[in-house]
Amino acid sequence: PEQAHFAGTLLRWYGQHKRALPWRDTTNPYHIWLSEVILQQTRVAQGLPYYLKFVEMYPTVQQLAAAPEDEVLRLWQGLGYYSRARNMHHTAKIVTDLYGGRFPDNYAELLHLKGVGSYTAAAIAAFAFKERVAVLDGNVFRVLARVFGLSDDIAAPASRKVFQQLADTLVPPDAPDIYNQAIMEFGAIQCTPVMPDCLFCPLQQSCFAFNHGMVQELPVKAKA
Ligand code: ADE
Repeated sequence: PEQAHFAGTLLRWYGQHKRALPWRDTTNPYHIWLSEVILQQTRVAQGLPYYLKFVEMYPTVQQLAAAPEDEVLRLWQGLGYYSRARNMHHTAKIVTDLYGGRFPDNYAELLHLKGVGSYTAAAIAAFAFKERVAVLDGNVFRVLARVFGLSDDIAAPASRKVFQQLADTLVPPDAPDIYNQAIMEFGAIQCTPVMPDCLFCPLQQSCFAFNHGMVQELPVKAKA
C-alpha cells in the first residue's frame, strides 16, 4: 500500500476501535515512561492498575526518585521481574539528579538514559513530544511484515534496521503520536498473532500476506 493510505486507514480504524487507556490522554513524558516500563512484559489489563497506583503515589519523577526502594518494590508486587522496578527507580534518580527532573525531549537524547532502549525512547519521543519516529514492538513488526511482505527474521538484530527504515517513512508528520498508538493497537486487536481478523480488516486488499496466502507464515521468526 501507499504510505498515506496505510497511515490514513490505521488512523480511521483506531478512531473506531481504540481502547480508552489513561496513558493515551497525557503528554507527560514521565507518565508515558512509567506506562511503557510497566507494560514491557505485562498485559494491558494487568498493568493498568499498577500504572494508576504509581501515578497516584508518585505524580512526579522527583517523588518516585525520593521514595524508599522497599516502598517502590512493595507497590510493584505482583508484576514480577523486580529488576524492572529497581531499574525504574534508578532511572528516576538519574533523571532527577542529572537532568533536573526533566526527561530529554527527543529520541537521540532519550537513548542516553540508562535503561531506556530504542523502543522506550521512541515511545516517549512520539507520544510526549510528537517526534516523527516509529515505535517498534512485537505488534508493529507483525503488522509491517504481513502488510508489506517483509520476510526478514524479526528475531535477528540485523532486521531491525529494515523494519525501522520502512516504519519511519510511514509515520505521518502531523500525527506521530496517534499513528504510533494506532499501529500498536491494530496489532494487538486486529492483526493478532493467532487468528487475525482478516475478514474484517480495512487493509485486506492491500495486504501482501493476505493476498499471497501467507498470513500464517509472516512474520518470520527463526526458532532459537
Ligand atoms: N503496550 C505497551 N505500550 C502500550 C501502549 N502505549 N498502549 C497500549 N498497549 C501498550
